[in-house]
Amino acid sequence: MTFIVTGSNGFIGYNTCRRLVELGERVVGVDDLSSGLAEDSVPGVQYHVHNVVDADWMIRLLREVRPTAVIHLAALPRVSFSVEQPMLSTDANLVGAISVMNAILKAELIDRTRLVFASSSSVYGEGVALPTSETHPCKPESPYGLAKLQAEGWADMFHRLYGLDVVSLRYFNIFGPVGRFGGAYSTVVPAWFHHLFGNPSYKPYLEGDGSQSRDFCFIDDVVCANVAAATRKRGFAAEALNIGRGSAHTLLEVKTAIEQVVGKELALERRPSRIGDVPHTLADISAARTELGFKPGSDFQAELASTADWHRRTFAAA
Ligand SMILES: NC(=O)c1ccc[n+]([C@@H]2O[C@H](COP(=O)([O-])OP(=O)(O)OC[C@H]3O[C@@H](n4cnc5c(N)ncnc54)[C@H](O)[C@@H]3O)[C@@H](O)[C@H]2O)c1
Repeated sequence: MTFIVTGSNGFIGYNTCRRLVELGERVVGVDDLSSGLAEDSVPGVQYHVHNVVDADWMIRLLREVRPTAVIHLAALPRVSFSVEQPMLSTDANLVGAISVMNAILKAELIDRTRLVFASSSSVYGEGVALPTSETHPCKPESPYGLAKLQAEGWADMFHRLYGLDVVSLRYFNIFGPVGRFGGAYSTVVPAWFHHLFGNPSYKPYLEGDGSQSRDFCFIDDVVCANVAAATRKRGFAAEALNIGRGSAHTLLEVKTAIEQVVGKELALERRPSRIGDVPHTLADISAARTELGFKPGSDFQAELASTADWHRRTFAAA
């Protein structure tokens, strides 16, 4: 099979490309390197440095490659950036997604090519019921979350108008190797490892009392979900599926687990709670279990250990 992965040089893109190559699949990567790194390339992948918003170029690429599926991960996934730069952010996050759908249509691949769209738990907004299922009302709180929700709407439109085979995966907080500090989703995990292995002068901090909890999902599980969605025999009808662990950890639990993994204390500066910070996130993943056979791992400590290893190796080599 042949796959196009957009956002191929980002955190999830790199890991997804690596898995597909391991499986012996042909992989074409597209990334404009606006935030991804050329060094995060996987041997065996054919790369194009290009912007997915370029509609004519995308059509030409689709005509040439004729993929089994496009896994569309390319985005500028920073909530704060989307608030400051709504035009630039919407271009990458919404227009980019429509450009991919349009390319499948215009390359006359509707009957052949599936789209797996990277959506986000940010479509739900704040004050949601837990665990949050896909039927929960969506009220995004940022242009980023809104663009993801609107792209899901376009996916539904392309399905109803043209029969596009498409599924949206609503990822929760993802962590793991190649999840870099300063990257799109710099949550506590990469930030605290950055202090421990990268730059000790970076002062790690904790906002609030640490009782906030997050559904932290390991990257390998997300990659499994991407591959399962891209390769499932039965097609999709523009469903949205939560991809998370289905259980949550408080930030204090994360701190303790990291300390156990690295064998030293993580001294955190205490800061006041951030205004608008969501107290808890927790995905209801029963739909992904049924639709994709999704089974996230349960060994949080081992996942943190492998993340720590990557940070250790990466900074030792730098
Ligand atoms: N990481 C998470 O926790 C998380 C959670 C929810 C949703 N998501 C979504 O998953 C996807 C991948 O996230 P990630 O963490 O790997 O992000 P990332 O920032 O690491 O990777 C995104 C990649 O897309 C590329 N890109 C951006 N705009 C582009 C464009 N117009 N054309 C071509 N390439 C472009 C960037 O250079 C980057 O390499 C994104 O769509 C994101 O919104 C991620």
